[in-house]
Formats: sequence, structure tokens, C-alpha cells
Amino acid sequence: MTAKRSVVLGCGSYLPRKVLTNAELADRIDTSDEWIVQRTGIRQRHIAADGEFTSHLAINAARAALDHAGIDAQQIDLIVLATSTPDNTFPATAVAVQHALGINHGVAFDLQAVCSGFIFALATADNFLRSGSHKRALVIGAETFSRILDWSDRGTCVLFGDGAGAVVLEAQDQPGKPTDRGILTTHLRSDGRHKSKLFVDGGPSSTQTVGHLRMEGREVFKHAVGMITDVIVDAFNATGASAEEIDWFVPHQANKRIIDASAHKLHIAPQKVVLTVDLHGNTSAASIPLALNVAVKDGRVKKGDLVLLEAMGGGFTWGSALVRW
Ligand code: ACO
Repeated sequence: MTAKRSVVLGCGSYLPRKVLTNAELADRIDTSDEWIVQRTGIRQRHIAADGEFTSHLAINAARAALDHAGIDAQQIDLIVLATSTPDNTFPATAVAVQHALGINHGVAFDLQAVCSGFIFALATADNFLRSGSHKRALVIGAETFSRILDWSDRGTCVLFGDGAGAVVLEAQDQPGKPTDRGILTTHLRSDGRHKSKLFVDGGPSSTQTVGHLRMEGREVFKHAVGMITDVIVDAFNATGASAEEIDWFVPHQANKRIIDASAHKLHIAPQKVVLTVDLHGNTSAASIPLALNVAVKDGRVKKGDLVLLEAMGGGFTWGSALVRW
């Protein structure tokens, strides 16, 4: 029996031109390249220019993904944009992207699940496509976290960066076998008991300000590996896939220590782990599609490969997706 699957047609990304190194940060605040690299694996991050908004990053990533997929923007009927740093409180940044791409049919909306945003957006688009209501989707993760950082807080400002990544999905009838191409399973979770461990201390309803990111780093770290591995085990149980069958593990790029510990716990070989946290820092919802784009463009991720994605972030929210490229 055939199965409708959301197949990835292409991906793209965009990084702002300005690079901020650990050494430059150490000139401004009491930190060091050694401390940041040892605790996080981060060496540099990109920072959006004045006047460069989340929508601009997203539009560039979306255009690159459409080019890579070889399809025209007019063929897209669904845009799901994951961000916690929208251009404005409303309208959704997704409609700015839709407009810039010259699309005025279908639907475009934002989705907010902080660092898990891309997985939540992917799962959402997958459900729309498999239901038959929409045919081709742009799923985008785009962030300008530099705008919500407290640059005097060394515990957080060294961790994050700006960027955007996107994938194009198409609903296709596949044979209904484990070898099908496309999104094979997604698993999403949240638990609001942890909402004060990683949050922004402002907002339209509470303070009428944008606010700054606040985090209990140790608390996040403590929960991250367990939550990540739980949803990956869910993905394995749902599909019958095993760690050995995974060709590439493309995790949310928050911290190399969290990624290494998760891969180790799941028995995923280190050479299968795609790491970009050193170059991009934590770009929240953009980090997975940015990393995917690197591994696709350098030839690691190829058609037919089994790719495991996961993320965990504010809320807490967490999720996984298993995709045959
Ligand atoms: N440079 C130098 N020293 C620092 C810095 C810095 N940038 N930041 C904190 N320190 C100091 C602290 O002040 C503290 O000093 P003290 O012992 O004199 O008080 C010491 O380093 C240890 O501080 P901790 O916060 O306990 O450091 P920890 O080892 O936990 O590392 C870190 C901090 C890297 C944030 C870690 O907790 C972590 O990685 N947590 C996960 C958080 C994360 O990745 N969040 C991303 C968003 S969520 C997600 O995407 C999963």
C-alpha cells in the first residue's frame, strides 16, 4: 500500500556577513576563547548587520533552497517559519517571506518553539502535506538572537548567533516501506514546568518591551541529553530503525558537549555526527537547517541516506525527526 510522504527536494541557508570571534568577545567581556571552546565547542558566530532583519535572512535561505530544489516559488503553497525573533510582534515574519517571493496564494505562518522550532515546523508541514491539503512547503528556521542577548551577561551572550536555513518539501506517493524517501516519523514534546529555565524577560503583554534572553545553563544542560535521547528512541520505536542504520545525525547545534553526550548515549558513531556549532554558535531554530545545508552541499548527505534530526530548547520543548533524504 502506498504512503504519502513529505520528500525533501532541496535545502539552502544564509549567514550574515559579519563574523564575531571568541577573541573579539574576550576584548569586550570577562571571558576567553579557551573557556568558550572547552565548555561549548563554539569558536565564532555570525551577527546580522544593522537593518538586516530575520525576514531578510529567511528570504535569502528560502531562495537558496528553491534554487537547490529546482522549483519555482509559485509552486509553494505552504510556508512555515520557525522563529523566536520575528521582525515584529505581528504580522508573522512568514508573510514577509511569502511577499518577497512573489507568492500570494496558499498560506504562510510563524511557529514558535525556540530552539526546537525547526523540528516543530517540519512536523507541522509534514502533517499538512500528508493530509493532502497542501502540495509543496517551504520550512524555514530563521533567527537574529543577537538582538535579544544581554551583551553584558557572559553566561549567555557567548552562546548564540544569527542565521537562517530552509528546506523544500513535496508531498509524494511512496511505496509505504522503510526505504521510502521523505519524513518517516516526527515526535514532539513540551513541558511548561521548565518555562523559567530558559526565557526572555520581556514581551508585548507582560512588559511591552522585547526583553533579553535569560538562562539557567546548568539546568538546561541537566535535562538536555535525557530529553533528546527519549524522543530519538521514540523515532526508533516508531520506525524500527536503529542507531547503526543512521547515516547522519544532524542535531540542534547548542553545545558540543550536549551533542557528544547524546550521540554517545545512543551509540551513534562520532563520524556520523554533523557539527557546525564551532562556526555558527547556537542559532536556535536555524541551527538544524544550517547544519543540514553544510552536510548536503559538501556531499556527505546524499539521496537515500537516513538522517536523524533532533532539538531541545526553551519551554522546555524537544523533538526528533527521521528523514530519508
Ligand atoms: N567565560 C568565562 N567564564 C564564564 C562564562 C564565560 N563566558 N560564563 C560563565 N562563566 C563562569 C561562571 O561565572 C562560573 O564562575 P564561578 O564558578 O566563579 O561562579 C563558572 O564559569 C561556571 O559557570 P556555570 O554556568 O556553572 O558553567 P557551566 O559549566 O555550566 O557552563 C554553559 C555554562 C556553557 C552555559 C553550560 O551550562 C551549558 O552549556 N548549558 C547548556 C545551555 C545551552 O546550551 N543552552 C542553549 C539553549 S538551549 C538549547 O538550545 C539546548
